[in-house]
Amino acid sequence: MKTRSLICAISFFAVITVTGLIAQESASPSANLALTPPMGWNSWNKFACNVSEDLIKGMADAVVKSGMKDAGYVYVNIDDCWQVSRDANGNIVADPQRFPHGMKAVGDYIHSLGLKFGVYSDAGSKTCAGRPGGLGHEYQDALQYAEWGVDYLKYDWCNTSTQDAKASYANMRAALDASGRPIVLSICEWGTAKPWLWGNEVGGNLWRSTGDISDKFEGQAKWPDGSCCANGMLINLDLQVGLQSYAGPGHWNDPDMLEVGNGGMSDTEYRSHFSLWAILAAPLIAGNDLRNMRPEIHDILTNKEVIAVDQDSLGREGERVAKNGDLEVWAKQLKDGSRAVVLLNRSKSEQEISVNWEDLGYPNTVAALVRDLWQHKDLGKFTGKFSARVAPHGVVMVTVKP
Ligand code: GLA
Repeated sequence: MKTRSLICAISFFAVITVTGLIAQESASPSANLALTPPMGWNSWNKFACNVSEDLIKGMADAVVKSGMKDAGYVYVNIDDCWQVSRDANGNIVADPQRFPHGMKAVGDYIHSLGLKFGVYSDAGSKTCAGRPGGLGHEYQDALQYAEWGVDYLKYDWCNTSTQDAKASYANMRAALDASGRPIVLSICEWGTAKPWLWGNEVGGNLWRSTGDISDKFEGQAKWPDGSCCANGMLINLDLQVGLQSYAGPGHWNDPDMLEVGNGGMSDTEYRSHFSLWAILAAPLIAGNDLRNMRPEIHDILTNKEVIAVDQDSLGREGERVAKNGDLEVWAKQLKDGSRAVVLLNRSKSEQEISVNWEDLGYPNTVAALVRDLWQHKDLGKFTGKFSARVAPHGVVMVTVKP
């Protein structure tokens, strides 16, 4: 009897210990990050290397004051050029002129506003702007980031020589997790090694699926040094075709940050850019100066009905369901079974575009409520299809709810 109780007790504790170990193993600090596409602001598209403590703090204030925080934008991310060197111990050194109080002070300020703090580095020896990269310092940097209170790391792919992309990003995820702090890992590999095939497996929360975006509706733009090229918005859109099944809660395709408000597109084109990024369940990382937005730009970036499509908890990426030359229909399934739909007119003249229920996966006999997400208006019940006149380079964005 005594022996039996002893065996029972031993097996009981063994079960508890094994369960404990399993629980410990599965509770990685990065589990449950980015369950919807990350939303925030990043310095690169507007300010490039011109970053400083004052700029970042001012932008964090503007995220709150402009209502962007209320609309869901939470990350304030410093891109390239905050770093200048490494010290004698190999620790990364922030630019002392531009960040005189150090990076932790910037993080503390961002956190004091209820926002989250992001930084940028690179898997290679140098960043794309030639600053010190993370290669060989991954664990040291991760500890440093955790000390500063970093919540988001964008990790670029310049100067990586013969490195293997999957292994390099897996290594950085392991380093971030070893720091004990939950940190979103944004893989910025431009789609070269098809990161959608392995990004989720290595713990990436989002991965760039394209080269850099530029502030243009279509075509390409030369880099400042005259070499070729950054992509107009439509090129990055087209590069998403076929990638939709790789996205889901915690792991997203990233067609690059928003250009809304940077001046190179019309407001109509910016509305198209924002609507399409929402249909794609793309990260919504604003890249404009939030301190002095025109009301039209503010209204695009804070359209809560469009943002709700992006942030829908089912986490489906939308796809192109119909194309007739310049006229396209993009659709995304939502958690409640309804569909968000973008009618996109890529042409230079106004056009009528229709969406057929069969392209949305509904029988043509179904009557469905159509709501316009830019006019904020129910348009009524439609059976079989819905048609609208769409401005040149514009969209009509609706939800279709049977
Ligand atoms: C690469 C990235 C950009 C930006 C710059 C910074 O081009 O793709 O998003 O981070 O580097 O140098």
